[in-house]
Amino acid sequence: MSFSTDTHQLARTRIRATLEARDHRFRDLLRARVLAAGGHRLPFSRAVPRRSKLARMERETQLARGQLPGLERATIHGYLDATPGPVHYQRNAHPVGLEAERLIGELEGGHSLLFPSGAGATTALALALLQPGSTVAVADGGYWGTVALLRDELGRWGLETIPFDQTGPPPSADLVWLEPCANPLMSFPDLGPAITQAHAAGARVVVDNTVLSPLLLRPLEQGADFVLHSATKILAGHHDALVGVVSCAREDDAARLAAFRAASGIVAAPDPVWLMLRGMKTLAVRVERQSASALELARRLATDARVERVRYPGLGDPVAARYIRAFGPLLSFDVADAETALQLERSLALIENATSLGGVASTLEARARWEGARVPPGLLRLSVGLEDVEDLWADLDQALAG
Ligand SMILES: Cc1ncc(COP(=O)(O)O)c(C=O)c1O
Repeated sequence: MSFSTDTHQLARTRIRATLEARDHRFRDLLRARVLAAGGHRLPFSRAVPRRSKLARMERETQLARGQLPGLERATIHGYLDATPGPVHYQRNAHPVGLEAERLIGELEGGHSLLFPSGAGATTALALALLQPGSTVAVADGGYWGTVALLRDELGRWGLETIPFDQTGPPPSADLVWLEPCANPLMSFPDLGPAITQAHAAGARVVVDNTVLSPLLLRPLEQGADFVLHSATKILAGHHDALVGVVSCAREDDAARLAAFRAASGIVAAPDPVWLMLRGMKTLAVRVERQSASALELARRLATDARVERVRYPGLGDPVAARYIRAFGPLLSFDVADAETALQLERSLALIENATSLGGVASTLEARARWEGARVPPGLLRLSVGLEDVEDLWADLDQALAG
């Protein structure tokens, strides 16, 4: 064999080895991406031996099992044989997001999509599924930011907002927006009849389930078309991640929303989504304890002469009791006036005088600072965290004393 033939053979062997190695790498990559796009053997599921044996697995177990997916931050993933895979550019999808969407979709019984915040989810839902001239009937007394966004911002693009009392039948509209345990006035809609009436009148229905989470209420099972979460709150649970979710009953709605999300770039980044996934591992225990403590504090506040009114569905709302077995972390109570409310805020020693809700640390604030005359001047919103309930009560008691 001549020297030159040897060299050629060596080169050919090297090229073949390189191609084979690349082939293996591509196959592995493809497998990883296909799994990431909805396969069953992703990190969360890997810890369980056989899916079929666990078909009726409790939601608590689903949340707690397995390893978190790796925090993959890459914005690009190479094509395979010149073909973009399901994960190729972060604006369309990323592995951590796909895993989170799979898990939340399983919990809700629908097709879930992530957004960078609850407000981002609201914006995307409205812009993707409504038209200029569409009407939205929105629960009065629910999250003021939703009303303001729909009315003041999206109103400029032709959306008409109709506030309504969600404890009664919804008015005629293209979209009906319900919010059980409405933040902060705590009204609770009769979901079944409200959804049926809305559908009969040709409306679609979205339920903002931020306060309760899918562990306490799954509105898609009640017939809702969409569920929205500010996952910033109890889903993520630690006041360190801003995320939103929309879950759709119908696949075609999810596809439309996913197309709008990719086009608009209203996309959740991997880091906060990863934090949300980690937070969700303890969602079940947080929801139980926060609900139990909130109920206990609501009961004590309700018999306290310094408090004028307590709003918590757990204090005997018969409609809420038909839908949920625990009532979540959020309650409101009214003191005499704005000055008394301010005094109480300033006197807190343990409870954080801050906005937001659903986190492991309790937060309290007078809502009139944001919502003006929409709420009573002495209304204080309390989100109950994981602190010992006796410590929380001691703080409220001393703060009420001024
Ligand atoms: C019930 C409810 N929905 C939606 C939102 C908006 O969510 P985010 O702050 O994540 O944009 C909030 C925020 O407070 C909320 O309380």
